[in-house]
Amino acid sequence: MFSTIRLRGFAIACVALGALALAGVRAGEVPSIYTHDGQLVKPAAYREWVNIGTGLGMAYGPAREKAGAHPPFTNVYVSPASYRGFLERGVWPEQTVFVLEIRRSVPVNAAGVGNGHYQGDLVAIEAEVKDSARFEKGWGFFNLPQDRESGAQIPTTASCYACHATNAAVENTFVQFYPVLRDVAKQHRTFKDVATTF
Ligand code: HEC
Repeated sequence: MFSTIRLRGFAIACVALGALALAGVRAGEVPSIYTHDGQLVKPAAYREWVNIGTGLGMAYGPAREKAGAHPPFTNVYVSPASYRGFLERGVWPEQTVFVLEIRRSVPVNAAGVGNGHYQGDLVAIEAEVKDSARFEKGWGFFNLPQDRESGAQIPTTASCYACHATNAAVENTFVQFYPVLRDVAKQHRTFKDVATTF
């Protein structure tokens, strides 16, 4: 009886290890956030992550134009582990992935609501990664096309890099616009006094 249970346990462990091996993951190893050709894997469950802030009319460049006449919403997500890391230290852990979802805003003018706006269709998904070991200046920007599982890095000459490096309040990120984290960064004294207009 005892040995049957042990044998069964051993068989289950073998199957589990086999599945990991098939997925290309060795036991105890975290899967890479990049594909073998250097693209960023779109995090599968990012809509279950923490939404650290939502701007209105804060998008820029082609995504802003694509959003149409009304100012789009920008929803920013980070994983719960990175969020907890920021709460503890006021800076982002290495390999934090930021997902930015840009959505159209749709006006509502119903009785009692007045001039409201709700979030409409998705316009674009962009991402940013803190990875000092990988990127020359420590941060990489990526497009994450809606119909693909991964997206290519944006060249370092693009405006993303300079605008973030110059105007963001904490490291490369616009924490001045994220309500809870703004206070956390001030407590940890990691908040740079930057202009809110640029
Ligand atoms: C002119 C300045 C500017 C440029 C250029 C710019 N951004 Fe941003 N970015 C912002 C601002 C402002 C926010 C905060 C958005 C909000 O509050 O909704 C932001 C937020 C983000 C975030 C969320 C994490 C963070 O850093 O706060 C990502 C991801 C992001 N941008 C990606 C990009 C990508 C990719 C590009 C280039 C295609 C780009 N950005 C170009 C100003 C800029």
